[in-house]
Amino acid sequence: MRNRKPFIAGNWKMYKTCAESVETAKKLAALVSGVTDVDVMIAPPFTALAQVYEAVKGSSVLLGAQNIFWKKEGAYTGEISPGMLVSAGCRYVIIGHSERRQYFGETDNTVNKKIRAALNNGIMPVVCIGETEKEREAGNTFNILDKQIKMGLEGFSPDDAEHMILAYEPVWAIGTGKTATSAQAQEVHLFLRNLIENLFGKDIAGSIRILYGGSVKPDNIGELMAMPDIDGALVGGASLDAQKFAGIINFKK
Ligand code: PGA
Repeated sequence: MRNRKPFIAGNWKMYKTCAESVETAKKLAALVSGVTDVDVMIAPPFTALAQVYEAVKGSSVLLGAQNIFWKKEGAYTGEISPGMLVSAGCRYVIIGHSERRQYFGETDNTVNKKIRAALNNGIMPVVCIGETEKEREAGNTFNILDKQIKMGLEGFSPDDAEHMILAYEPVWAIGTGKTATSAQAQEVHLFLRNLIENLFGKDIAGSIRILYGGSVKPDNIGELMAMPDIDGALVGGASLDAQKFAGIINFKK
């Protein structure tokens, strides 16, 4: 039996004003108020974080950011520091999402620095990795993931890894309606868990949570969660609607 507590996160991307964020967060908190066996996290846009924190305080909804910068402070126009996230109530941060890599030049190296900055500030990183369609078709999926993990997590100790969450998000499945089959996802999750075992040992491999992301919906979460190495989901589109997202969180019912 898996003893890892499922973690289901909503990535709101560049959607929702402050008022819309607060409204959705409140609805969600009410819908999942009885949920104790799943960790529920939402990552609203930066502008709404502090208000959403106030709205979900004391509920079972956890708060995360969608990005972070690694410097403490300074002349870095437009960036958000770890301390700023903590002051807004964030305890989680999504790092290295494929959209950040694709459109904003993030690399395994910047991902590495961001993870370090998050950990140093008591923020739990949700580290995203995943192959593109081209890479999968060329038979390079495992090479790509191996590189993303080894470079992204270079220099970290098992103690560090204990405070991380991984999210496998095949780029071809994000926002496309094309989900990886549960068997395809399981194959990759097992590969990742073995890789983590080689890097950080058996205990960490057994306890680290590996989420799946890419077109997760209320009607496919059940079969994904039935896989032994899938410990939760990182949900984009379907997390924007509180009712739909609650349907994913309540995957067992
Ligand atoms: P999606 O996005 O659920 O809309 O496919 C997932 C993600 O980008 O994390």
